[in-house]
Amino acid sequence: MEFEQFLPKTFPKNLLDKDWKERKCYCVKGRREFLCLVHNMLVKNDDVWLVTLPKCGTTWMQELLWLVLNNFDFDAAKNEHLEVRTPFLEFDYIINEDLKTALRPVEMLTSPRLIKSHLPLPLLPAQLWSKLPKCKHCLLRLIKLIYVYRDPKDALISQYYFGRSMGFNMDKTLEQFLTEKIESREAECDFDHVTEFYFLRSQAWLYYTSFERMKMNLRQIVEDICQFLDRPISDEQMHQMLKHLSFEEMKANTKTNHIWEIEQVRAKHGLPYEDHSFVRKGKVGGFKEELSSEFISRVDAWINKNVSKYNSALVEVEVQGGWQPPRTVQT
Ligand code: A3P
Repeated sequence: MEFEQFLPKTFPKNLLDKDWKERKCYCVKGRREFLCLVHNMLVKNDDVWLVTLPKCGTTWMQELLWLVLNNFDFDAAKNEHLEVRTPFLEFDYIINEDLKTALRPVEMLTSPRLIKSHLPLPLLPAQLWSKLPKCKHCLLRLIKLIYVYRDPKDALISQYYFGRSMGFNMDKTLEQFLTEKIESREAECDFDHVTEFYFLRSQAWLYYTSFERMKMNLRQIVEDICQFLDRPISDEQMHQMLKHLSFEEMKANTKTNHIWEIEQVRAKHGLPYEDHSFVRKGKVGGFKEELSSEFISRVDAWINKNVSKYNSALVEVEVQGGWQPPRTVQT
């Protein structure tokens, strides 16, 4: 995949005080016009945005959020693909490359809309940051954003296998794939992706968490999200949520394994692929089973080099060999 640099028209200067002139954004070649469309799109006051880097537990959080926002309607969830119920903003354009229809899946949603995106903060709609509330008192019925972080080693390995499910990365070993990643300028920008939201984590409109925290205490995350979105949950609903969102149930659920999306990608590219179920291993620290200790040290050195560019406070908690953001609960 070829990338090119992309300069958005405006930056979220009102949210974060940083040297935006230095901020590099890359996009897949040929997606500039689409990014302009997104940058100018209308945002609704009660939108809920889920923003992540790929393979960080987006689907897990997305199913959780959809259920919280839809009165814990498990029957409806089991009857429609997750990505139809709550679209991935970039997906239609990736498949159809048609600017006229690209935003339709999101525009067709009824409010409150739950929108997933992998775009970094500066490439999200400019209206988002102009509409985000600046004080806790004006939070009711205003845009909320959820961000999920994951140890990059586990996320990149997950990305390798997910790519192979669609016929990409077939000519590379896992170590070759990771070597290319850590040597690329685009992957360095992923640290901006995380840290920009990390630095905003105390904002009342943002719930910042991680895959590792979801694994550690899913009940707490569900409680936090219900509080964050102002949706009460009963004991019975909590019981159902924890069962429905368990690794085993989500792995067996045909509506949470991105079958709808993966089939479209396979049809578009027509590449020979390898089958890996989308909900694959779901582990924290799974990288230890896949990589040699020498290679892990190499990837860790790359992570530390990039993280140290920001603030040493980021390297606050060491969990499973990777840097972890501290837990954030909105109060
Ligand atoms: P692995 O490939 O490491 O197993 P995303 O949705 O952002 O693409 O993230 C996909 C990752 O989340 C995959 O990781 C997948 O297995 C994991 N995942 C999805 N649902 C999960 C669940 N209920 N419990 C644990 N991990 C889950």
